[in-house]
Amino acid sequence: MIGFIGAMQLELDGIQALMTEKQTETVSGIQYVSGRLGKNRIVTAVCGIGKVFAAICTQTMILRYSPTLIINTGVAGAISPLLSIGDVVVADKVVQHDMDTSPIGDPVGLISGINKIFFDTDKKTSDTLAESLARLNINTLRGTVATGDQFVSSTEKKTYLRDAFGAVSCEMEGGSIGHVCYVNSVPFAILRSISDKADEGATVDYPSFARTSAERYVNVIADFAENWRE
Ligand code: ADE
Repeated sequence: MIGFIGAMQLELDGIQALMTEKQTETVSGIQYVSGRLGKNRIVTAVCGIGKVFAAICTQTMILRYSPTLIINTGVAGAISPLLSIGDVVVADKVVQHDMDTSPIGDPVGLISGINKIFFDTDKKTSDTLAESLARLNINTLRGTVATGDQFVSSTEKKTYLRDAFGAVSCEMEGGSIGHVCYVNSVPFAILRSISDKADEGATVDYPSFARTSAERYVNVIADFAENWRE
C-alpha cells in the first residue's frame, strides 16, 4: 500500500482520476480514498494546508492503512534559480524552517526531543521518481525542501531559506509529513512541481499556474507505480 498526500484537491485530482475500485472514509474531517493504481494498492488524502493538517493526516493514514511508503505530491515555490515554473523537485531531505528555538541556544530548525533538523527522504523511492521524470523529459532538481506555515513571497525570505538550510524549494506540508513518518519509521518521499518563484511575483503566479503545474506530475506517478517494487 502506497499513501499519497496532497494539501489541496487540485494536487490529487489527477491521481484520483487514475484510480479504480475506489472506497472512501472520512476521519477527523479528512477524506481517505483508497483503491488501486495499476497493480498497486494506494490510499490518497487531501490533508488541507499547513503542517498541522498534514501531521493529522499522515498519522491517521499510517494507523488506519499501514502504508509501506508515503509520497507527498503537490506544488511548491522555487528557491533555486535552476527551477522554472512547471519543473519538478524531488526532495532529498526536508526541514521545518519555522521551527526556531535559537533564542535558547539551539540551531534554527532543530526539533527538540528527537534532535533533528532534517529528515531524509527514502532514497530508492526518490531515485525511482527521478527515473520516471527523466523518462518523461521533465526538468527535475533534487535537494532540500523547506516547509513552514507561511506562503513565501519575498526575495528576502527566499534568500534566507537558501542560506540557512540550503533549500531549493519551499512549501507548507512536506517537513511535517517527514516528521510524522520518521517517528513511525515509515519511508516517505516528496514530489513537488513549481507553481511560482516564492518572490514578489508569487501571489500572481501561484493562482495562475498551480493547477497546470499539478498536472505535470500525474504521468510521473503512473510511470512510478508501474516501476515500483516494494
Ligand atoms: N506552495 C506553492 N508556492 C508556495 C510558496 N511560495 N510558499 C509556500 N508554499 C507554496
